[in-house]
Amino acid sequence: MVTHIVTNHPDEWDARYSSAEQVWSGDPNGALVAEVASLPPGRALDVGCGEGADAVWLASRGWAVTAIDVSAVALDRAEQHARDAGVDVTWVRTGLVEANLPARGFDLVSAQYPALLRTAGGDAERALLRPVAVGGELLVVHHEVTTDEAHAHGFDPLMFIMPADVATLLDDDWEVLVDERRDRTIAGGAGAHHAHDLVLRARRLR
Ligand SMILES: C[S@@+](CC[C@H](N)C(=O)[O-])C[C@H]1O[C@@H](n2cnc3c(N)ncnc32)[C@H](O)[C@@H]1O
Repeated sequence: MVTHIVTNHPDEWDARYSSAEQVWSGDPNGALVAEVASLPPGRALDVGCGEGADAVWLASRGWAVTAIDVSAVALDRAEQHARDAGVDVTWVRTGLVEANLPARGFDLVSAQYPALLRTAGGDAERALLRPVAVGGELLVVHHEVTTDEAHAHGFDPLMFIMPADVATLLDDDWEVLVDERRDRTIAGGAGAHHAHDLVLRARRLR
């Protein structure tokens, strides 16, 4: 049985992950690979890392990776994935907004299909921007989800922030490198039915 995420409580995510041996494909996300493969490795933060495929891919390319998620079940799997791959990743069980992340401490902040709650003050959006170093990049990717699709899956589409919400906070300190909708192909996993990605990539200039 698929557990629908209605309140975004960590227990819901643990239940979702516990409902299957593996939820996602196990492969790094296509948008991450497309945007980051040519970057020199540095310090990376993976927000909402899930079962860890992106973090493991980054670490295998020489990035020093910190990966955060609210689900202990997902993080246990991610740790095992890293062990199997022979790479080190710093895994932290925390929500993004509550995390004590160093300001401007990462050369890459990647959030792939993050389930970050929308708040009046834009807390999640600001928490994504804050850890990006000068010269570093922010990559936020989400599914394009129609209202009907969201309702069919039992959640309110306005509940979660989207790349466009982050883009509205990018001022003159930022250069937008990519802000587009693109086709998405993925071999398997629970998100395989989503056909389009919304991709925001920006560099902090100062
Ligand atoms: C749709 S999944 C995406 C997982 C992974 N990025 C991927 O692409 O396979 C969203 C993830 O965000 C995590 N999550 C939910 N709320 C969070 C929060 N406030 N801070 C960090 N992670 C969160 C969930 O536990 C889940 O693993």
